[in-house]
Amino acid sequence: MTTQTRIAVVTGSNRGLGYAISRKLSQIGIRVILTSRNETDGLATKQQLFSEGLDVDYHLLDVTDDASVQQFTQWLRETYGKVDILVNNAGVNPTTKPEESSLLTVQLETMRVTFETNVLAVVRISQALIPLMQVENYGRIVNISTEMASLSTIPDDYYPLAPSYRLSKVGVNGITAILAKELQGTNILVNAYSPGWMKTDMGGDQAPFTAEEGAETAVYLATLPDGGAQGQFFAEIRKFGGPVQLQW
Ligand SMILES: NC(=O)c1ccc[n+]([C@@H]2O[C@H](COP(=O)([O-])OP(=O)(O)OC[C@H]3O[C@@H](n4cnc5c(N)ncnc54)[C@H](OP(=O)(O)O)[C@@H]3O)[C@@H](O)[C@H]2O)c1
Repeated sequence: MTTQTRIAVVTGSNRGLGYAISRKLSQIGIRVILTSRNETDGLATKQQLFSEGLDVDYHLLDVTDDASVQQFTQWLRETYGKVDILVNNAGVNPTTKPEESSLLTVQLETMRVTFETNVLAVVRISQALIPLMQVENYGRIVNISTEMASLSTIPDDYYPLAPSYRLSKVGVNGITAILAKELQGTNILVNAYSPGWMKTDMGGDQAPFTAEEGAETAVYLATLPDGGAQGQFFAEIRKFGGPVQLQW
């Protein structure tokens, strides 16, 4: 590793999309810091990638826990002194609960818990890590969203209503737009994208795409050139053969 090596933090990288993104970033020479809320799972992931010859690092990180984020940030500052790439991937999805089929039956507690991980944690991590990016005036932030959060297409889309999940990802899109405005004129680029429906624990076996396919757009956004996209909401590159923006 040299001082030029890019450092990437991926939240929830012990399985699913976070794992696939971490693997791909590591394969192109980025120093990936795997993170998970369960240390045993995270260390097993590190071992798995090591066995493929990928030299990744690992640290515990529960994105919903203030103390965990503080400890992680302190460690990151002492160990690497910077962070170049942040992928806000960790997420929960309560859509299989029957009450999630209608806004009129949704449990507010479920919505609260979903927002804790999918929305508030993104704010918490951004507040912790963007100051480190500001020191270097370099950053690429990738927020994982979904097409289901595209408000303008809700009347005609074929997805389940899924109020807690959809609204949480609308929140992710909102964070992306607000942060982009705040970071205007800097070399810290923040964008959101929809990875598509993937075969993960969340997406299930019926999903048409793999997590590896879903990870392609994350790699594109994590390695944007200076002056690249800022505050946009992208579809998966695979679907259109290149970067295409989704409607908000
Ligand atoms: N799968 C899809 O079809 C699909 C489609 C569109 C968008 N997405 C989005 O893609 C992202 C990844 O989804 P996935 O399909 O890979 O889901 P997944 O297989 O269920 O993995 C979710 C990951 O998030 C982690 N996580 C949850 N709460 C956490 C917390 N408090 N702190 C740290 N990590 C936490 C999980 O850790 P544990 O192992 O400890 O639970 C796990 O690593 C999510 O943001 C999701 O909303 C998925």
